[in-house]
Amino acid sequence: MSEPLSLHARMRQATTALNSLPVPDTDAATHSERMMLELQQEMDSSGGAITFARFMELALYAPGLGYYSAGSQKFGAEGDFVTAPEISPLFSRCVAHQIQQVLLALEGGAIMEVGAGSGVMAADILAELERLECLPEHYFILELSADLRERQLLALRDKAPQLLDRVQWLDSLPQTPFRGVVVANELLDALPVHRFRVGSHCVDELYVTCSKDGFCWERGKISSKAVAERLEKIAPQLPYGYQSEIGLAAEQWLHTVGAVLERGLVLLIDYGFPEHEYYHPQRDSGTVMCHYRHRAHPDPLILPGLQDITAHVNFTAVAEMALDAGMDLYGYTTQAWFLLANGLEQAMQSISDEPRVQLELSRQIKMLTLPEEMGELFKVIAVGKGLAGVPLNGFMLRDLRGKL
Ligand SMILES: C[S@@+](CC[C@H](N)C(=O)[O-])C[C@H]1O[C@@H](n2cnc3c(N)ncnc32)[C@H](O)[C@@H]1O
Repeated sequence: MSEPLSLHARMRQATTALNSLPVPDTDAATHSERMMLELQQEMDSSGGAITFARFMELALYAPGLGYYSAGSQKFGAEGDFVTAPEISPLFSRCVAHQIQQVLLALEGGAIMEVGAGSGVMAADILAELERLECLPEHYFILELSADLRERQLLALRDKAPQLLDRVQWLDSLPQTPFRGVVVANELLDALPVHRFRVGSHCVDELYVTCSKDGFCWERGKISSKAVAERLEKIAPQLPYGYQSEIGLAAEQWLHTVGAVLERGLVLLIDYGFPEHEYYHPQRDSGTVMCHYRHRAHPDPLILPGLQDITAHVNFTAVAEMALDAGMDLYGYTTQAWFLLANGLEQAMQSISDEPRVQLELSRQIKMLTLPEEMGELFKVIAVGKGLAGVPLNGFMLRDLRGKL
């Protein structure tokens, strides 16, 4: 096995490369050291280096150690980042309105939320559907992280105890055909991506290896046929030195969902672009972004186990995979247009007309919808089966499918 990194080397990584990001406390540093050791062992047993996709998978999901598997506070003001359902209940209310339309069209069906984070979206969706008298019999939550499952249970117990008996946690996608709505907010950006770099004669995949100063990049052969096939399509147009990602795991995940979906909607909300923007010549360093205590930075090789690692979503590839998996593409739009089309303004009025509450809700709406906040970067894509005759409300104001 290669020599373990010294604590000094790690802290240097964490303080210099992080550009004044907070230095982890002793417990967190110890946790990160254990995560590093696991990553090093994996590198050693793989001949010295692992693909970035494998690095990201372990750093986020290694049991007990990965960022999402371990017990740190991730979401909200005390954590590393906020997501739309954490910013405002209005977000989940609008999503509930879209779900209601589909459940009515299907005359029933279940909801399956994948990657439910703190559980707040599940609680708010269920509460709104109760108010609309359109509750599903089952609200399934498919969540990888045992720690987050516990938090989701607590959140639901606290916010919607009367609806808890409808909620069921799943270890994997159902074995029997699923009818209803699959919903996921910021799931796809948290799935591992392969990284590549265009060289003078060929395209290399980027691997992660260990040096005395910490983890570092190493160029190597393309790791699989699937990555090679995607590169054949995208790389010929890209200039020398260009670096970016391929989100195969997100596409494969969607394929498995398509296989179990009998009839219904898959509603995915995330940040990203159509392919021509994703691989835009000016986006030559890729889209990987990390979050640590509300600071965003682009270095995924530091603070393993302590920071979130994400990559933007290529929505063209997602749409193509949906078609490949036998689903139809029903809509694609920005988060702002989706929320407005699902009654954002009316939802605000229905919460309270007290001026102070209205002021706070207006602030939340700005974060959700302004172009310079989440309004434009975040997109909503709707795919599924058997809903061709149901024009989905969320895409009525603006449908951007033509851009994919
Ligand atoms: C960025 S968080 C988003 C959480 C939440 N949806 C929100 O918007 O606040 C990603 C979530 O997806 C979960 N996750 C990642 N991969 C998953 C998978 N393959 N199956 C189920 N959950 C997954 C993570 O554990 C985490 O709960």
